[in-house]
Amino acid sequence: MSRHGSFSFKSGADLRKKAEELGLELPFQDSISPLFESIEVNSKKILNRLAVQPMEGFDAELDGSPSQLTFRRYSRYAKGGSGLIWFEATSVVPEGRSNPRQLMLFAQNLDTFKRLVEHTRNSAFKVFGSSFDIFCVLQLTHSGRHSKPEGKPKPYVANPDASLGKKAENTHVLSDEDLARLQNIYVEAARLAGEAGFEGVDIKACNGYLLNELLAAYSRKNSRYGESFESRTRFLLDVLQDIRGEVPGICTAVRLSAYDGIPYGFGVLRDGSIDIDLNEPKELLRHLIRSGCSLFNITVGNPYHEPHFGRPFDRPLPGASLPDEHPLEGVTRLLKVTGVLQKEFPDIPFVGTGYSWLRHFFPYVGAAGLNRKEVSFVGLGRSSFAYPDAPRDLMAKGVMDPKKACITCSRCTELMRNGHISGCAVHDKKIYGKEYQELLLKESRNEEEPD
Ligand SMILES: Cc1cc2nc3c(=O)[nH]c(=O)nc-3n(C[C@H](O)[C@H](O)[C@H](O)COP(=O)(O)O)c2cc1C
Repeated sequence: MSRHGSFSFKSGADLRKKAEELGLELPFQDSISPLFESIEVNSKKILNRLAVQPMEGFDAELDGSPSQLTFRRYSRYAKGGSGLIWFEATSVVPEGRSNPRQLMLFAQNLDTFKRLVEHTRNSAFKVFGSSFDIFCVLQLTHSGRHSKPEGKPKPYVANPDASLGKKAENTHVLSDEDLARLQNIYVEAARLAGEAGFEGVDIKACNGYLLNELLAAYSRKNSRYGESFESRTRFLLDVLQDIRGEVPGICTAVRLSAYDGIPYGFGVLRDGSIDIDLNEPKELLRHLIRSGCSLFNITVGNPYHEPHFGRPFDRPLPGASLPDEHPLEGVTRLLKVTGVLQKEFPDIPFVGTGYSWLRHFFPYVGAAGLNRKEVSFVGLGRSSFAYPDAPRDLMAKGVMDPKKACITCSRCTELMRNGHISGCAVHDKKIYGKEYQELLLKESRNEEEPD
């Protein structure tokens, strides 16, 4: 029988009872005051411990510039009261886009990104006053084997391990020269991010995309970027070192999949199992800190293989089967991995992931994690799509409205995977409910069409 179950808790006590039944340790406390303590990152004060996680909205203009809808999304986050906004995956090259409407930063659209940062900050000022300055981090990425620059897969592969997916006919295997060139492009994109007004830049190394793939590139032979730990981590470390030199003062950050959750993945014991082994992630973090990184954001799993590891849900994508674990197991795995790493490096702030499934109880779990010093920021992904005002409600009323909480129905992911603009189809109906209806209609028409 599947161990999966849905969220059905009337009280925090019910939730804790379920965790106990499953033999899981779930931190929980009634006082949420730790969420509203400030913290200094890269010499700047961040006003609270609530962070918006990077969430692609797939609503950029075709040239990668933020659109009106992008402005709307960030303005909603800013008015919601999070102290840290981690802007979504933004491609550094056209061929590395995950979708034709993924954001992309280059010299020609720098002014639009500048306006986006300004608009986001101003949105918070309008609600909370001029002392409420948000810390903005931009995530830079290359989608690697999941690139779809024109809407169809066009993979760029760094690790030829067959278990990561069959090689499509149009697969481009990145040479050492390609990767060296790409390193310079990342540095230039980080420079532009600084000019646009972002306080921080994240060199994305998670969720199965290019830089995450390189970390486990054991099968990449005779290369400067494969096999040994030193070579597999070279790209990330070199880029960050160069950014420190070329963009002085910017906060350098990494969103890291600390445990891939697939055989021979990063953070996985090398015996063919998927047992967690955090020795290499710890070693990598040690090097990253030495090279000046001052902020980390931890996630686990590869969404193309085990989506429930990184975003525990009630309802899977249509056609996918229910995972054989309870979503609370996914939540506590994320909390535990982050806690181990935060404890190992107590002076560097870590953002935690995986709180959305907890709905209106996340503040109590997050506050307990902060209190135990197992995390420094409570990061919210799907919850920010559904209920961006949750931090504001917590500040003003001390509680969230359960009716507005994310129900982890996977519709936002379904929209994204089908090339639509992505957001909450349940609670932000005017735009995304309508978009979701269009997706369903398109699918039903496709089903009706004869072969
Ligand atoms: C629609 C969608 C878009 C996402 N986009 C990004 C992204 O741009 N960068 C990233 O690192 N993670 C991305 N994620 C993962 C989230 O940041 C987050 O890790 C995940 O949703 C789990 O957190 P949650 O339980 O708070 O939703 C995305 C997830 C979804 C569902």
